[in-house]
Amino acid sequence: MNILIIGSGGREHTFAWKISQSPLCEHLYIAPGNGGTSACGTNLPISGTDFDSLKKAVLDKKIDLIVVGPEDPLVKGIVNYFQSDSATQHVLIVGPAQEAAQLEGSKSFAKAFMKKYGIPTASYAEFTVSNFEEGLEYIKAHSLPIVLKADGLAAGKGVLICNSHDEALREFELMIRQSKFGTAGNKVVIESFLEGIEASVFVLTDGKSYLLLPEAKDYKRIGEGDQGLNTGGMGALSPVPFFDDALRSKIISRIVEPTVAGLKSENYNYKGFVFIGLMINQGEPFVIEYNCRMGDPETEVVIPRIKSDLLPILIATAKAELHAVSLDTHTQTAATVVAVSGGYPGEYATGKVIKGLDLPSGEHSVVFHAGTKQDGDEMLTSGGRVLAITSFGNDIEEATERSYHLLGKLHYEGMFFRKDIGYEFK
Ligand code: AMP
Ligand code: GLY
Repeated sequence: MNILIIGSGGREHTFAWKISQSPLCEHLYIAPGNGGTSACGTNLPISGTDFDSLKKAVLDKKIDLIVVGPEDPLVKGIVNYFQSDSATQHVLIVGPAQEAAQLEGSKSFAKAFMKKYGIPTASYAEFTVSNFEEGLEYIKAHSLPIVLKADGLAAGKGVLICNSHDEALREFELMIRQSKFGTAGNKVVIESFLEGIEASVFVLTDGKSYLLLPEAKDYKRIGEGDQGLNTGGMGALSPVPFFDDALRSKIISRIVEPTVAGLKSENYNYKGFVFIGLMINQGEPFVIEYNCRMGDPETEVVIPRIKSDLLPILIATAKAELHAVSLDTHTQTAATVVAVSGGYPGEYATGKVIKGLDLPSGEHSVVFHAGTKQDGDEMLTSGGRVLAITSFGNDIEEATERSYHLLGKLHYEGMFFRKDIGYEFK
């Protein structure tokens, strides 16, 4: 079977690495891919939101299955685009349709969904320019900290945790009246702050049945000890040490099953991943957010922990036959450490030569590429997050040590990575 993966990050390299190991995989294409994905298949220089060019490639290359990595094409309706065209409607596609991708595309939609299906989450209210004054009063009367969220996609920057009413009032005004996040902030969800520790679960669903994938914890801040600016993710672990059976069964019964039942009851065309960001407060799970795709860098630990061939599972998802499928996982710990460009998540330079990639990575580690580009014989940096080094070990200490050992052999100008991934569990 011929497969097209859409996206260009570490998540897509991990999908490509896993799918290319399947005996069912004949030709694998990645659009646009990166410097690492070309070792697993053929990169096609097409953006994930250029649907017409993707359609041409799907027909030319006789693609049987499309796996959509990032949220942008999903929220823009890539699934609807392919399924409503008679030339491409036979092509299997993993990803939710546009209306269901609103679980990520609109915080207000996600909150209303959780409310309707009794899924535990922070209490909230929502405001637009038409009830702006009411919003100001709501903020003044609210306990601190208070969380402001731009309704739409804002490149991971649309969530503000405010520690004073003045700051919250100012930010609220900037979002609604001065379009701080463009149209994404035309509506603002204001919610209570949840205390606790964060972790994520990943569900593969066909809209009726589901498979629970390994859970993960990511490290979002740029600095050690979880300090400094938010990033796309500086590292991740799976399994998560505090995920015991009691917590897992609460998450399944209170969150995962009502979510899948809600998708079914709304009759959404949802054949893809649901990434559920959780806050665990004294053993009680609450949903912080839904994403309609896998996480990055969480994918770099979740997918390697899957022992089963992923391709038949993705096919079953797209065909709505997931009820017949089960999943085998590796029990070892997987850890990934992300190497970024100097200056990230602020301004950073690209085009730096990466050295050491030709050295053996050892049987316990894999180097996933995120922001890289092949240029003749050289591999160059091309983004903020450059590489994700995933290793297996008997525990977090061993897995992270292996990734750090490998990182010691890699170099590019300005290279930076957190040296404390998994610190709170060591
Ligand atoms: P999001 O963009 O929805 O992933 O939110 C970004 C981050 O903000 C989350 O990963 C949490 O760390 C934090 N966050 C979002 N909502 C809340 C909340 N209600 N309480 C505490 N932290 C939150
Ligand atoms: N690592 C967080 C995300 O993928 O959204």
